[in-house]
Amino acid sequence: MKALEIKNLTKIYDNNLVALDDISFEVEQGDFYALLGPNGAGKSTMIGIISSLVNKSSGKVNILGLDIDTHHSEAKKRIGIVGQEVNFNQFETVHNILLHQAGFFGMPFSDIKKNCEFYLKRLDLWGKRNEQGRNLSGGMKRRLMVAKALVNNPDLLILDEPTAGVDTELRRSLWEFLVEINKKGTTIILTTHYLEEAERLCKNISIIDHGKIVRNSDMNSFLREIEIETFIFDLKEKTSKNLYSENFDIKKINDSTFSVQANKGTNLNLIFDFFDHEGIEILSMRNETNRLEELFLKLTNNDH
Ligand SMILES: Nc1ncnc2c1ncn2[C@@H]1O[C@H](COP(=O)(O)OP(=O)(O)O)[C@@H](O)[C@H]1O
Ligand SMILES: [Mg+2]
Repeated sequence: MKALEIKNLTKIYDNNLVALDDISFEVEQGDFYALLGPNGAGKSTMIGIISSLVNKSSGKVNILGLDIDTHHSEAKKRIGIVGQEVNFNQFETVHNILLHQAGFFGMPFSDIKKNCEFYLKRLDLWGKRNEQGRNLSGGMKRRLMVAKALVNNPDLLILDEPTAGVDTELRRSLWEFLVEINKKGTTIILTTHYLEEAERLCKNISIIDHGKIVRNSDMNSFLREIEIETFIFDLKEKTSKNLYSENFDIKKINDSTFSVQANKGTNLNLIFDFFDHEGIEILSMRNETNRLEELFLKLTNNDH
């Protein structure tokens, strides 16, 4: 059984904006999964639908085998969501916010107390337990939201840009904490527009842009892929030859065009020398920017 199964999910907002366009993907239990995409890609819409805060237009969502349309409350018990916006009553004390959240799921009181204490201590909020939520700093509020999402022992934790706008120290301690609970068995999905965050934490990744999944793979293959550049070579004269090189991946497109894939930073002279050696004259060369490359640039140029 998958932790999450999304099938043909589409969301069209009232203003006809297509925020999610026929998206499908699956997350295995125990995974640490990234949904990486720039602002406006559709990440929060997706999380909104999974947590039943946003109505989908069409498609299916299954959480641990439970269809959110037909098994809504059972599904909801299995997930913890950390959204982008503060989602607790700011006038309640930190301790009560957690106690109420756990009580809402009908856990035995002894478990509730134990979990509240555990997460408040682990997330460095124990000393603040009698403060009202509104008196916490931004970083503390974020940690309280994480505690609130975990207090009922969900199998699947989903975080929407958990480290956006938080300082480096909190980012690191939050990363460490997430790795720890993932190791203990909680499946984690996070959205981010930091490639670095996805790279540090996640085993598998979906890249989302303009409401579509543009790539879906394990993290290592993805990282290898963005390290590759594609060049298109037009030849002066047609050739019937097929070419092969040990240093780069060369493909014939037609008799007067070849494409070459090489690691970033490969000396282009090596490729020219190769054609030269084969007795082939080059008319022109261009760098083909692929979709992923473009998106990667967009992500890395994005500074928040
Ligand atoms: N309530 C809404 N009504 C109309 N359009 C919306 C609404 N919420 C989000 N959008 C639009 O949907 C697209 C996806 O937004 P969102 O899911 O928030 O993206 P992300 O979280 O990846 O930044 C954006 O173009 C956004 O402007
Ligand atoms: Mg968002």
